[in-house]
Amino acid sequence: MLRRNLVFVPAAALLLSGCTVGQSALDVHGENARQLLRLIWIFSGLSLLIWLAVIGGLALALFRNRSEPEAEPDERGRRSASRVVAVATGLTAIIIIGLTALSYVADRSLASYPARPVTIRITGNQWWWEVRYESPEPSRTLQSANEIHIPVGTPVRLKLESTDVIHSFWVPSLAGKEDLVPGRHNELTLLAERPGIYRGQCAEFCGLQHAHMAVLVIAEPQEEFQAWWDRQLAQAPEPPTEEAVRGRTTFLSGSCILCHTVRGTSAGGKSGPDLTHVGSRRTIAAGILPMTRDALATWIADPQGTKPGANMPVSDINAGEIKDVAAYLESLK
Ligand code: CUA
Repeated sequence: MLRRNLVFVPAAALLLSGCTVGQSALDVHGENARQLLRLIWIFSGLSLLIWLAVIGGLALALFRNRSEPEAEPDERGRRSASRVVAVATGLTAIIIIGLTALSYVADRSLASYPARPVTIRITGNQWWWEVRYESPEPSRTLQSANEIHIPVGTPVRLKLESTDVIHSFWVPSLAGKEDLVPGRHNELTLLAERPGIYRGQCAEFCGLQHAHMAVLVIAEPQEEFQAWWDRQLAQAPEPPTEEAVRGRTTFLSGSCILCHTVRGTSAGGKSGPDLTHVGSRRTIAAGILPMTRDALATWIADPQGTKPGANMPVSDINAGEIKDVAAYLESLK
């Protein structure tokens, strides 16, 4: 019961605090998403008109048949029926060709950003996102996870890759979907027109925890973005409390370091998310728990209860040590 509460309370807190976090293709904040929304309205509007026309024609036929005695259609009736069929066929062809052309034009213009000053490589994993900021200066290359910061008003180039199965990157308010395919290199451009937190979600079934593979995109003014990047480049801060110092010792002497990196310590594992500044992120476990000490403890104590099938194993440390490690990780701002 306690365990369930530990999961439920943070999840509820996240939901309540997440009122400003949007995930809707109808609430657009970028040109890429706006073009897609335009297509959604045109396709839906046209489909509605066609549906009304078909239902209207059907109603008319039913009504006429009831009031008139049944009779074989004469030559004139047959000719007018053929005309109706010919017009309907012509209209159908024109509509299909028109909609295809519209999608093609939208697709072309989505791919046509002349300059994209920021490049981020995103790798899909079962079930989290590795986020790597690329820079011509190797010392400014940065590794993070599950949370993407971008500057407002600047087109950002996303290089999308996968190490295991096919995932799909989708932040509906900013852009359309793009698959991450093992062995392939796909690209997508993100452009946020105003600051905000935009929620995204893996949009291709990728296994047991597909629904728990969320991503947050945080769009902020250029100076804030640069300051964030500079802060993230720093090595992990020293633990501020005795509890956190104990937590670091436990963390570094246990199995955590086999999968996780904390820059500035001996932890250099690569198969799990980089934890150097995990405390500065808003969520853990790919968006399913808020970043709080309790949620961290819950996650470490029972990862399989929170996210069955995840690669995070149950650790063999005791409850007191789990609290220490949670305090340490929370302090990694
Ligand atoms: Cu990754 Cu669905």
